[in-house]
Amino acid sequence: MYILRKALIASLLLTVFTGCKSKKKAAPSTLKVVDPKEWVDDHMLSNADSGMVKHLHLDINVSMDKKQIAGSAMWTINNTHKKKELILDTYDLTIDSVTVDGHKAAHHLDGAIKYLGSALHIPIDVNTKFVTVYYKTGADARALQWLSPQQTHDKKKPFLYTQSESIYARSWIPCPDGPGVRFTYTARVKVPIGLMALMSAENSDIVNDSGIYRFRMQNPIPAYLMALAVGDLAFRGIDDRTGVFAEKGMIDKARYEFENVGRMVGAAEQLYGPYRWGRYDVLVLPPGFPIGGMENPRLTFCTPSIIAGDRSLVTLIAHELAHSWSGNLVTNATWNDFWLNEGFTNYFERRIMEQMMGAKYADMLWELGYQDLENTVTHLGPKSPDTWLKLNLKGRDPDDGLNDIPYEKGCHFLRLIEKNAGRDRFDKFLSKYFDHYAFSTVTTETFLNYMDTVLIGKDTNLRKSITIDEWVYGPGIPANCPRAGNELFGKVDIEREKFLAGMPAEQMAFVNWSAHEWLHFLRGMPKSLMPSQMKMLDDAFNITNTGNSEIACMWFILAIRTNYFQAYPAMERFLSTIGRRKFLEPLYSEMMLAPGGEEMAKRLYTRYKNNYHPLAQESLDEIVLHEHR
Ligand code: BES
Ligand code: ZN
Repeated sequence: MYILRKALIASLLLTVFTGCKSKKKAAPSTLKVVDPKEWVDDHMLSNADSGMVKHLHLDINVSMDKKQIAGSAMWTINNTHKKKELILDTYDLTIDSVTVDGHKAAHHLDGAIKYLGSALHIPIDVNTKFVTVYYKTGADARALQWLSPQQTHDKKKPFLYTQSESIYARSWIPCPDGPGVRFTYTARVKVPIGLMALMSAENSDIVNDSGIYRFRMQNPIPAYLMALAVGDLAFRGIDDRTGVFAEKGMIDKARYEFENVGRMVGAAEQLYGPYRWGRYDVLVLPPGFPIGGMENPRLTFCTPSIIAGDRSLVTLIAHELAHSWSGNLVTNATWNDFWLNEGFTNYFERRIMEQMMGAKYADMLWELGYQDLENTVTHLGPKSPDTWLKLNLKGRDPDDGLNDIPYEKGCHFLRLIEKNAGRDRFDKFLSKYFDHYAFSTVTTETFLNYMDTVLIGKDTNLRKSITIDEWVYGPGIPANCPRAGNELFGKVDIEREKFLAGMPAEQMAFVNWSAHEWLHFLRGMPKSLMPSQMKMLDDAFNITNTGNSEIACMWFILAIRTNYFQAYPAMERFLSTIGRRKFLEPLYSEMMLAPGGEEMAKRLYTRYKNNYHPLAQESLDEIVLHEHR
């Protein structure tokens, strides 16, 4: 299958498309780019494309008591292809009724397909303009996390947030749920009085007395960027186009942490052109948020675990901000092309951080990323097809592609191209790419064709040196993978060696170490590390009580490995509050490997399971309880 696909793609890349049977739309002739715009999204049941669905109007009521969203989704459609039905994706939705241009219409729901949900069929004709679906969400809605007051930071009022990427929008909105279909939206959302509602759209920043909020997103976006949060929230501005929302008890800390976010937007614009979304705000979620951040347009959602108190983890905001170009503006056509979203964004994130903090700082991010890449390749197997940049997730949960390959192999590939083409030339090319495909969708092959025409052209040396096939349609880490100079980490390695050879911890030259240097210091510890050595480090640096979640996670992993029991109460506190899968999965996995650790993992997981997001529960059920869905 993979070999066939590879051969097919290679031949696509070599041939000019004239004479090709499928309808391929050519890009503007001045660019002479061959643009294979047709693709199949294996994770979408809907038959709509961006030409067919133009606009969504959502009118919903959020019941925090019933833990249910109910209301209507009205689609404005343009049936130019004279389709006989509109098919929408749904997941665990109850469909109450459907109208077509105001008249009640017949409809039917197919049986559910694993991961994908049920296709909703609605008959339409050539003149159909509006299709309205009246519906309710189910208890199994994978996009929704309903928090009791106890599960929030302030512990006073309930909270709801959505996480729609990758294919969960369909569990709260009947929609064409594929990254290749874009639409604009408006919404009217009714929430309990006293709570604030926010969406990935134009937002008001004050609580109103009616509990009714209205939203508008005028740029076309794919369904995975639909987002809603409802809670007891406050707002603080950073500059005239950036700001932060958080629970009241968190807002000042959050405002402090994100002081530089306004400058960050400026740095990003200098690199790859204007920010096209108007405002850029960040919403800090309660601790159970299962991921680090989500690039919802105009309003990044993020975990509170990056509020370290010293602005050391704001790289994550640079990442989500960078998606305003790579992902939200130019979007991967299918989840098989996920590296176009995440690899480009990781590359862009590090360029932003280099602008903000200097090259030595960025080099640390590159090196930590390289280490992640190596570990992931070892874990998946160096020959595994899942280590290709172009993935094949057909028949699987798209979350299967959610590892460091698209991120780290992706951004290292771009770095290789940068190094060989020259930075100026590469930057100009990327700006052009974002501009050319703004508000549209690209496959891996579209990008490669565009690069071949616009960047490489007659430069055969460049084409040879970047070994595209090996990177995109081949496994593992290619030999030409660039690796950052390692000046700061080199110094850390020396201190680690001295410490391991018996030098007292206090004598280490650690002054001005950033969180990244500490992380590197801990990551490099050998398997033979002793609990007594853990204690020496802890006595000197109080690492057990660090406020930095990345360092804490690594430290607790070492504590499990070395039986350093003194860290366990702090680890339990960490596991009881933080819901980020990036931390939960390695910690529970490490426990399962340790002698006697399985019992501890089961005990802690049973105790705190309800604090975790449904998707985190799914993966931990597998890791801790060996239960497969
Ligand atoms: N878009 C992703 C999050 C995502 C990907 C959610 C796929 C669901 C499916 C987001 O931009 C992201 O990459 N977040 C990272 C942080 C980043 C700094 C690497 C995370 O959450 O850890
Ligand atoms: Zn990302």
